[in-house]
Amino acid sequence: MTAARSDAPISLTATLVVLFAAVSVAVLAVTNAFVFFFVEQQWRNSAQQDLEVGGNALRMLVASNPDAGSFATRGGTITTELGKNRRLTFSVSTGAGVVLLSTLPKGFPAEAFYQAADIEHPVDWQWDQRHFSIAEITGHFADTSVAGLRLALDVTEPRDIQGAYSRALVLITVAGGLIAAVLGLVAVRQGLEPLRRMATAAGQITASRLGERLRPEDTPAELSEMASNFNGMLERLEDSFRRLNDFSSDIAHELRTPINNLQGQTQVALSRARSSDDYRSVLELNAEEFERLSHMIQDMLFLAQADNAQAALNLEEVNLAAECAKIIEYFEPVIEEGRLCVELRGQGSVHADRLLLQRALANLVSNAVRNSPPGALVQIEIAAPNAQQVSVDIVNPGPGIPAEELPRIFDRFYRTRGARDRKLEGTGLGLAIVRTIARLHGGDVAVQSNPEVETRFRLVLPREGATAA
Ligand SMILES: Nc1ncnc2c1ncn2[C@@H]1O[C@H](COP(=O)(O)OP(=O)(O)OP(=O)(O)O)[C@@H](O)[C@H]1O
Ligand SMILES: [Mg+2]
Repeated sequence: MTAARSDAPISLTATLVVLFAAVSVAVLAVTNAFVFFFVEQQWRNSAQQDLEVGGNALRMLVASNPDAGSFATRGGTITTELGKNRRLTFSVSTGAGVVLLSTLPKGFPAEAFYQAADIEHPVDWQWDQRHFSIAEITGHFADTSVAGLRLALDVTEPRDIQGAYSRALVLITVAGGLIAAVLGLVAVRQGLEPLRRMATAAGQITASRLGERLRPEDTPAELSEMASNFNGMLERLEDSFRRLNDFSSDIAHELRTPINNLQGQTQVALSRARSSDDYRSVLELNAEEFERLSHMIQDMLFLAQADNAQAALNLEEVNLAAECAKIIEYFEPVIEEGRLCVELRGQGSVHADRLLLQRALANLVSNAVRNSPPGALVQIEIAAPNAQQVSVDIVNPGPGIPAEELPRIFDRFYRTRGARDRKLEGTGLGLAIVRTIARLHGGDVAVQSNPEVETRFRLVLPREGATAA
């Protein structure tokens, strides 16, 4: 059960839907604002044009009258131009402000014109729930006396249309946002469907069904890499799991033989009364077996700890030639017994864990010594293949390792058929330990074997030593 966390990341679907809706609303809002101002611009242009036409017609009308007096008596004939536009009202007055003619709505406030400017910059005025664009200009009678001309154009209708537009545009924006959110939700759900399928498939993978794989070819391109990586992870997990399983069954198998021996020897000894010498020899045999068992358990423990990266490296400068010399000395009895000759060449030092390095080298030397025919020459060569690495080659003649067995030689408990036939002692953990130690240091170990000619193990270590991976 997963408890709801307050700091849980926001749902991907919610984020995408909100983003989708926000982008749609933003785009619609910008478009709508543009339309709104465009409509306003249009009617303002047209209003200005109407005022200009009206203003020019008024000027001509005034100019066609000799003076204000005659305009007042003749009443000024309103030209067709002026009469055509029903929305346009106006007044003509003398320079002193005496109104000679007015078609302005009844009661239209005179103060509306106080701020009125020329036709290029008409002023908005609201009166009696109607909107006007107003302007004041001057004209001249034929006698050049001044006439005050006031124009008021009723723009209520285009303003109302603009208002209706703006309400519709707000509605469109809100509806567009909602539609985008719904479509976004559908799209995101559909888009995330492959992820959900992957999650379901991953949920069905258990320890007993590690062989299950996702199908990258069924997932969209963006997810196929993830599916491949996930499969790669499963591959590695399955491999580790199989090794672990093999290891446990190998342990059980390897422990069975010494314990059977111990059991058999003890039971035979107990089957009847025996001399104290007999008991002693049985106990001695048992003690040997116990020692082998304890050795094996220590090795297994070491490998298990190294696997869990528990083996902390105690790095120090290690002189390889000196360490090899110590190991050769340690194996002196076996070397003498086999009339072997061991040759140590080269110099080199690495930054490594001394005890672990000794253990790895000892395992390799022990193998070389044990697998060499009597009188053979075992060679140890220290070299530097490049500036960053140091290598130790351990070479011995002898039966060697057949090519088909080479890939398994570093597996835990693996012993060559030849070694088993020759009843050579050993548990098959030595090389697994060598490889683990090499890798803990960031290096590796490799083998080349030419059966009946020579077998060469090469341990390569970084000169500076690496922290355990
Ligand atoms: N230099 C070598 N020449 C021929 N065979 C070798 C050589 N080194 C190792 N082998 C063979 O490889 C197998 C694995 O070696 P490994 O060191 O892992 O186990 P072991 O020597 O049998 O046991 P342990 O080292 O645990 O006592 C063994 O069967 C061993 O005989
Ligand atoms: Mg060995």
